[in-house]
Amino acid sequence: MKALKHLFDNNLEWAQAIQKEDPGFFESLSKQQSPEYLWIGCSDSRVPANEIINLPPGEVFVHRNIANVVVHTDLNCLSVIQFAVDILKIKHIIICGHYGCSGVRAALDDEEHGLVDNWLRHVKDVIRFNEDSFEGMTHQQQLDHLCELNVKEQVTNICNTTIIKNAWKNGRDLSIHGWIYNIENGILKELVPCISSTEESLK
Ligand code: CO
Repeated sequence: MKALKHLFDNNLEWAQAIQKEDPGFFESLSKQQSPEYLWIGCSDSRVPANEIINLPPGEVFVHRNIANVVVHTDLNCLSVIQFAVDILKIKHIIICGHYGCSGVRAALDDEEHGLVDNWLRHVKDVIRFNEDSFEGMTHQQQLDHLCELNVKEQVTNICNTTIIKNAWKNGRDLSIHGWIYNIENGILKELVPCISSTEESLK
């Protein structure tokens, strides 16, 4: 008896439905991937990259971590960005946060969750950089505000990586987008107007 049999059953049903709709889909996709988009989002189970933008396998290169953070020394995230930009020749990088983010809430409320607290220090830094802007807000407003500020901060971080700076210096057609997703209605919102050069980058 296979462990997690229901998931294998789901998988078979899914693969067969796609084959029925588009015979040869997997065969042609297996030869190469050429996605136009890199998605950097939260690990939250309610925020699945492909589903939200309704794109099939092959269209989105994805990196997810808790609270969709781009850290200058995170070799994992930097490697994804470098591979996406230099090898896959991605045209758009979407940093997508979401309202109601548990990681952002934990940073705001200073809750203790163990090892992950060290990761969330990066979100706490976002509070520190913008301390005055939280004054006079309710807790809910502060949470929404921090979810938004966190996206903007990560957009700034990615624009400052050597990978993106060099790509722009070399004349690459590459845009960075800062979005936020509403888990209550499934709707995306643009937070940061599209950035396509070092000059346009958030300081
Ligand atoms: Co989250």
